Amino acid sequence: MQNKNSNWDNKQFLESSEIAGYFYNVPIMDGMSGSRIVHNGKETINFAGINVLGLQEDKKFIDMFCENARQYGLATGGSRMTQGVCRPHVLLEQKMSQIFASEYTLTFGSGALANLGFVNGMTAFFAFDDNNKIDNRDVVFVLDRDCHWSLWNPVSKLKYGSQVYAFKHNNPESLEQVLSKIKSHKIIVVFETVYSCDGSVAPIAQLLDVCERYGVLSYVDDANGFMIYGTPNRPFYEDYQALSKATFIMVSFSKAIGIEGGAISGPEGFVKSLEILSGTSLFTATMQPPTAATNLEIINYLQDNPQIIDNYLKRCLQLREILIERNFKINSTPSYINSIFIGSDEVAEQVRREFLEMGYCVPVFRYPAIKRNQAVIRLMLNNQHTASDVNGFIIALEKMRSRYNF
Ligand SMILES: Cc1ncc(COP(=O)(O)O)c(C=O)c1O
Repeated sequence: MQNKNSNWDNKQFLESSEIAGYFYNVPIMDGMSGSRIVHNGKETINFAGINVLGLQEDKKFIDMFCENARQYGLATGGSRMTQGVCRPHVLLEQKMSQIFASEYTLTFGSGALANLGFVNGMTAFFAFDDNNKIDNRDVVFVLDRDCHWSLWNPVSKLKYGSQVYAFKHNNPESLEQVLSKIKSHKIIVVFETVYSCDGSVAPIAQLLDVCERYGVLSYVDDANGFMIYGTPNRPFYEDYQALSKATFIMVSFSKAIGIEGGAISGPEGFVKSLEILSGTSLFTATMQPPTAATNLEIINYLQDNPQIIDNYLKRCLQLREILIERNFKINSTPSYINSIFIGSDEVAEQVRREFLEMGYCVPVFRYPAIKRNQAVIRLMLNNQHTASDVNGFIIALEKMRSRYNF
């Protein structure tokens, strides 16, 4: 009898991808993810973590998490539609609505679940009965071409060229051109504030102006900018001011906040309907109660102590200046994300491995995260890195460049 697995290519795909260097057996991390990680017993200086402020390692937040776990328990126990919503989630949602001056906020298990759920909800065709139904099948999505997987993936089930369009990255004229051709009454423009691969920042004000002129809804994914940008003394202030014109703002709590979860803020009628229509609120788990509570504690803490991010941003810019001074090819936008261009995917993988041997974990972004042979080291400083961590890394980087010529 034929082996039932023989029609499937998964094992062979995995094995050949591993041989070609696309995939590797990921190491086991012991202890916490922060400025350092322990891989199979060996401590490594970590530039690959996304929770860049390092607050997830801070004892006071770990203690708060434990206290909240004692008070609210370890689990929500199921969907809010069936048994109610936990107090910490409500408090966090109220805080988010206050921050964005929005009518309503709904939290999700992660930022990706918020994005997937948004597209599900806004394209829904659903009826409780003949009198209580919704038909959003005529919606049209217009996305920045460089949007995150969690935005492109759910729209990929819609027909490109009639229900989904792309505009050129960060390009308001291109958005306008696309919008001028669409004849639908239900259009949603989707873009991000800060793009994590290349650290570019959207011309938020201009993009939202175009949306306003065309009378369309806008959904702005602020996963990478939330709590980092927005105050007058920080870069991109004017664009961040314009964010209040967005119909919806989505955030992830896994970046600056450093814990986990996601949220969408916006008009009550729309966002509340996502409790039913998104699917990722009703049919899957959300943040655990102590996670929601700790997210809120950290937001309050960062608001009370703005110098933490001010100083962090200063350090990121200093690192950027050093990279420029030493003639590394880096991204053009001076955001907190510095991307060092390597080019060849093969070289990038080699560089990643050699950095690891030298005691540095660096995130190499290459195909499929970005175009083939446009690989970069996506460098995000962790606020807990010491000056000597950074100096050591730059020396290692220079060695690597002279070996591989990038
Ligand atoms: C722009 C953007 N949106 C959404 C997400 C997903 O967020 P989360 O990690 O909370 O699922 C990410 C994470 O990489 C992101 O960069």
